[in-house]
Amino acid sequence: MFTMTGSKPHSARKRMLSNIYSKSYLQSSPQLKVISHTMIYDRLLPIIQEAVSSKNPVDFYELNQALTMDFVSAYLFGLRNGTNFLQDVPRRKYMLHIYQCRKPFEFYHQEVPNLVSWTRRLKIPLIPKWCDEANEVMDAWGLEMCDKADEHLEATDPEIEPTVYKQLKNSMAKQLPSKEVDHAAYKAASEKQQLDIACEMFDHLTAGHETSAVGLTYLFWELSKHPDLQKELREELLTLSPTISYPTQSSTTPELPSPKSIEALSLLNAIVTETLRLHAPIPGIQPRVTPYPTCSLVGYENIPPNTRVNAQAYSLHRNPDVFPDPETWQPKRWLKPADSPELEEMKRWFWAFGSGGRMCVGSNLALQEIKLTVAAIYTNYTTRIIDDEDIEAIDAYTVKPRGEKLILKVDHV
Ligand code: HEM
Repeated sequence: MFTMTGSKPHSARKRMLSNIYSKSYLQSSPQLKVISHTMIYDRLLPIIQEAVSSKNPVDFYELNQALTMDFVSAYLFGLRNGTNFLQDVPRRKYMLHIYQCRKPFEFYHQEVPNLVSWTRRLKIPLIPKWCDEANEVMDAWGLEMCDKADEHLEATDPEIEPTVYKQLKNSMAKQLPSKEVDHAAYKAASEKQQLDIACEMFDHLTAGHETSAVGLTYLFWELSKHPDLQKELREELLTLSPTISYPTQSSTTPELPSPKSIEALSLLNAIVTETLRLHAPIPGIQPRVTPYPTCSLVGYENIPPNTRVNAQAYSLHRNPDVFPDPETWQPKRWLKPADSPELEEMKRWFWAFGSGGRMCVGSNLALQEIKLTVAAIYTNYTTRIIDDEDIEAIDAYTVKPRGEKLILKVDHV
C-alpha cells in the first residue's frame, strides 16, 4: 500500500484493510484486548518493576522497539504467532540489529533503484553484501510469520487469530481465478499473491514498529525533563477505572481500563499530540505524483503530469503562526476549548500521520498503543534522565535518536 503509485490499486488495497484499523474496531477488538493485557501486565510492567527493584536504569529506546514490534506483530499475525522481543532479549538484540543496520542504505532503494541495479551489474555495488544478507534474514522472518498465521486462519481464539493477515488473505482470495476452471492458473496466481500479502504485512510491521517506538522514546524523554507534568498526568491517570496499578495485590491481574476511557484523557492526549508534533517520527517528505493533464498547487499553476511533489510534517509542524514558539514542547497548547479557532487550525496543520487518501492506516492503532503504554508507566512510576547523549533525531524519512539510546532511571511512585 505504502509504495503503490497508482491511486486505483492503492485505494482498492486500502479498502480491504481500513475497517480493521478503524478506531471503533480497535476499541472493541477482543484480539487487541488480549494483546494489550499481555503486553502491559505480563511483559512490560514486570520488566520495569525488575529494573526498579534492582535499581538498574532502563534503555527505553530499545525497550520501546521491542514493545511496539510485539504489539504490531501480534495484531498482524496473532499474539502467539508474533514476536516476543520484550522477554526474549537475545532474539530482540539480533533482529533489531539486523533491522537497523540496513537503514543507512534505504535511500538508494527508495530514491535511485535503477542506479542500484546498474552499479550491481558493474560489480561496484552501492549496497554492501552484508546488507543484502540482512535483507534476506528479514525476508525469511516476515515469511515465517505469514506461514504461521496462515496455519491459523480458521482460529477464533483471540490469542491466536491473525487479525490483519486474515482480513487481507480473505479479501485478496476473491481476486484469484477459479480453482475448478483452471487449477494451474489458480496455483500460480495464489503463489504470487502470497508474496504480495507478505510484502503488505512487512510494510505494516516496519511502519508500525519503528514510528511508534520513536514517538514513545521522545515522549518519555520530554516527560523525564518535566517532573511536575508527570505528577499532573498521574492525577489524571488515577481517574481511570480500573487504574493500571502495579504490582497488583492479587495473583490475577485486573482488566485494563477501556481504550475509550484512556482516549478521553485530555492531558494524556495533549502530551502525545505535542510529542508527535515536535518529534514527528516521519518528518520527511511524503511524495505524490501530479495527475494528467496538469494541476495547480499552492499558487504554482500548470504543473506537468507525473511530476513528483512533496510536503513534510517537519515544516508544517514548525509554522510559528499556528504553533507559537514552535521549537518548544508545550503539551498544554492543545488544551484549548473544543470550539477554539486556534485549536481547529493546529489540528489542520498537524500532519504526523499525513492526511487524505494516503493517510497512515495504522494511526488509531498507534495512538491506542502509545496512550496505553504511557498510562501504564506513569500511573506507577516516575522517570528521570541518566543518559540522553545524541538524542537529537537523525536526518531521514523515519527518524530515530542519533545515539540510539535513552537511558532513564525509573522509580516507583
Ligand atoms: C506514531 C506512529 C506512526 C506514525 C507517526 C505514522 C506515520 C505515517 C505517515 C506519515 C504515513 C504516510 C502518510 C502519507 O503518505 O501521507 C504513514 C503511512 C502508513 N502507515 Fe503509519 N505511522 C504510525 C504508525 C503506524 C502503524 C501502527 C501502522 C500499522 C500497523 C502503520 C502503517 C502504515 C501504512 C500501511 C501506511 C501506508 C498508508 C497508505 O499508503 O495508504 N503506521 N504512516
